[in-house]
Amino acid sequence: MTAIGIHDLELATTHHLLDLGVLAERTGVDPDKYRLGLGQDEMSFPAPDEDIVTMGATAALALLDRNGMEGVRTLLFATESGLDHSKAAGVFVHKLLGLPAQVRVAEIKQACYGGTAAIQAAVGIVQRNPRERVLVIASDIARYALDSPGEPTQGAGAAAMLISADPALVEIEPASGLFSDDVDDFWRPNDSTTAIVDGRLSISAYLDALTGAWDDLAAHGGPAIGDIDRLVYHQPYTKMARKAQARLGEHLGVDLGDDGLVPGAIYNRRLGNAYTASLYAGVASVLDHESDLVGKRLGLFSYGSGSVSEFLTGVVQPGAASRTDRFTAALDARVPLTIDAYRELHARELPSAQDVETPRVTEAPFRFAGIQGSARRYERR
Ligand code: HMG
Repeated sequence: MTAIGIHDLELATTHHLLDLGVLAERTGVDPDKYRLGLGQDEMSFPAPDEDIVTMGATAALALLDRNGMEGVRTLLFATESGLDHSKAAGVFVHKLLGLPAQVRVAEIKQACYGGTAAIQAAVGIVQRNPRERVLVIASDIARYALDSPGEPTQGAGAAAMLISADPALVEIEPASGLFSDDVDDFWRPNDSTTAIVDGRLSISAYLDALTGAWDDLAAHGGPAIGDIDRLVYHQPYTKMARKAQARLGEHLGVDLGDDGLVPGAIYNRRLGNAYTASLYAGVASVLDHESDLVGKRLGLFSYGSGSVSEFLTGVVQPGAASRTDRFTAALDARVPLTIDAYRELHARELPSAQDVETPRVTEAPFRFAGIQGSARRYERR
């Protein structure tokens, strides 16, 4: 059987960040609640001329610069921060990147699980024709109401991945475990810019989905826990991975410890929740910070509220050996917001007027220029 998986992976984020120490000062909570209790130090926050398209295109540009376009006939854009009820955000990216007309583009949605759904669809396409490669972009902006418990778990980021035969980074194994359940833990109505969340329920729904998906993986010939070398979880905040690891260990009657979770949290601690991109930021963080993983097996848990989840596994390939920390520089380059500037940006109405120009702020390769004739306009800087 042809080996299929992640050939290359690139991340992008926003122009701004908010230090959670600054947020703690405003909310009056002990900063350790965020740093230790949630396991978060910072969160990315978009400038007015940034969105899921600009982040996604930025990540994909670097990916295609390295790998070229040969064989790419599909672009799947996973997001739960959709910009239009009809048009896929990936169509804007298709134009910004100058991709040929002979590429199918579509958007995939199921909360944070969408990135994994896109990867599995991509694997199917490559299986049908191993000469094809699929560009998967997962890009999101996590936004909760000001002064709500979810506020410190916001964030923003994009992951672009090339799914191909004989992948250089991670071969995705065929067995996977699934778990879906209609649960009102987190959702965002069509007319709301912020998510509605039942925090307690979301944590228990995530943990129940984890054991449910694990059991399904085991029932479908997945590896034993002892044959998985690193576990990487969807990280709405990095402490959630610790909760997950403890619950899985309890479920299986083994002590999984949590030392192995540190490398996979390095980027996410500073990025915040990037929804569909969050698990894959964790994968990049592991690959970029551990040099001896070639031949080892990763266990990946993808959770999307609402809920759909999947436990999949992958074997790290030799190309991973040359990866180094390439994302910390982008995280360091972000411009910190004062609390007042952050609150003002957060409260800013998203432009919906017929014609409006956005202020020039971002230094990323692409920017959201504004609305013309009710349609979104983007430009390359
Ligand atoms: P909260 O109620 O403000 O926090 O909201 P808390 O009181 O539960 O405290 C959090 C932790 O900090 C606790 O630790 C405290 O003990 C600790 P835990 O019991 O969890 O181990 N703590 C401290 N630690 C050190 N020093 C201190 C201190 N004080 C307290 N001084 C909550 C927390 C996560 C619920 C909230 O932020 C929230 O609602 N976030 C959004 C929802 C969310 O992220 N849910 C996660 C699972 S659902 C999911 O992952 C899907 C999602 O990504 C969406 C999608 O799929 O699209 C969200």
